[in-house]
Amino acid sequence: MTSIRISTFKLRLLSALSLTLLALPLAFAQQPGADGLGDRLYPRLGNGGYDVRHYSIDLAFTPESNSIAATAVLDAVALLDLASFNLDLYELTVDSVRVNGIRAAFAREEAELVISPAQSIAAGAAFQVAVTYGGVPQPIVDPAVPFVKLGWQEWDDGYVAAVSQPSGSMNWFPCNNHPLDKATYTLRIAVPRPLTAVANGVLSETIANDDGTRAFVWEMEQPMASYLAIVAIGDFVAVRDDSEAVPIRNFFPASASDASIAGYDVTRDMMVWLSDMLGPYPFAAYGVVAVPGFPAALETQSISIFRASGAGELVVLHELLHQWFGNSVTLSQWSDIWLHEGFATYFMALWLGKQFGADAYSSFISSLRTPDMALNAPGNPEKTELFAWSVYARGALVLHALRSEVGEETFFEILRTFYSENAYGNVATADFIAVAEALSGRELDDLFDAWLYGERIPDLP
Ligand code: ARG
Ligand code: ZN
Repeated sequence: MTSIRISTFKLRLLSALSLTLLALPLAFAQQPGADGLGDRLYPRLGNGGYDVRHYSIDLAFTPESNSIAATAVLDAVALLDLASFNLDLYELTVDSVRVNGIRAAFAREEAELVISPAQSIAAGAAFQVAVTYGGVPQPIVDPAVPFVKLGWQEWDDGYVAAVSQPSGSMNWFPCNNHPLDKATYTLRIAVPRPLTAVANGVLSETIANDDGTRAFVWEMEQPMASYLAIVAIGDFVAVRDDSEAVPIRNFFPASASDASIAGYDVTRDMMVWLSDMLGPYPFAAYGVVAVPGFPAALETQSISIFRASGAGELVVLHELLHQWFGNSVTLSQWSDIWLHEGFATYFMALWLGKQFGADAYSSFISSLRTPDMALNAPGNPEKTELFAWSVYARGALVLHALRSEVGEETFFEILRTFYSENAYGNVATADFIAVAEALSGRELDDLFDAWLYGERIPDLP
């Protein structure tokens, strides 16, 4: 038995080796881009072999059928000699794909659009992909967010909005759907009157089309992860604040109450406070869009989305804070989500402290560690725990514990340095620990291990 097994093993090894040897010269010449980026929780989100620099999405929306007809043009750079490469796209119908203006073959494999250009693309070459597609976007069920479906969808009263953290963007445009590949965006969204289309960045143009529709052209000129792209369509009323360099433009449904609108008046003070503490607000504009029927809040880049009934002050602060930690400084692996949610929750405590004094800070911190509530380790959550309260609360307590250990002055220097060194980029937990250790001059493994990964939650310092 043993000898037979060994010999078949050897045989297989031999044939594998010879296949590899034969294939090597070809493999070096050109290869397929990987169908994922190695995310621990989402191995097939994103794709390898290229880097998208800019998305230009020209999209027309028809409310009667909730359908879209679009062309997405991606400017990218090849990182390998690419015989073929993938984009992520969920459902919808692809009509044609062109690479550098020449028709390319394509195939659909679940949420992968596999593109084989007529000629392979050389490593280092810039190339352009144009995908013409359309249909009715199908909301995505993602186990990380059982309370909401993701991607482009209709909410209440005919309002449409695409909200996507973490996986949803591929239900409305073909993309490299992982935060590791940030890009700039032009979103040109055509809708029938009297509807308005709101999206990321700055409104550069409104175009009256011959067919009676209007196209709203939005430019996001800073790098953005695909999950932060938003389009919201409806009968919105805009409220502007141009009192400082960064404009704040909020969009409310015509039915919004004065009280719900006034709830965002505090945004300017928060922005000034955060900019002083962390560094300049990272984008060209900010604002919120309130959408009837949307059940939560999400920090979509430069224009956070909220429910229409209004938001508490701490949630307003939370989504604004994410523009620094989450949107500008972004995780590299979804399992590092505490770097977003722990930070945003900790700043809720800081805001309370600023408004009402140290006792308010302390009681918020204590409330995060209710003794009867098990708070799982936030540092490496499973997919179903990605947005669990333990990530928010115990993630925030990581920062509280760090501040107690290194002192207030060093702590804020750590936050500022971690932010400025990584603005518009991607980070891992180890990057934060490295900054904390360098600036404090202390060995902090035990502290981070206990708070981030320890089975039992440590006592509050
Ligand atoms: N980052 C959001 C927040 O806490 C998470 C909300 C969960 N919803 C979602 N679609 N991922 O502000
Ligand atoms: Zn959050």
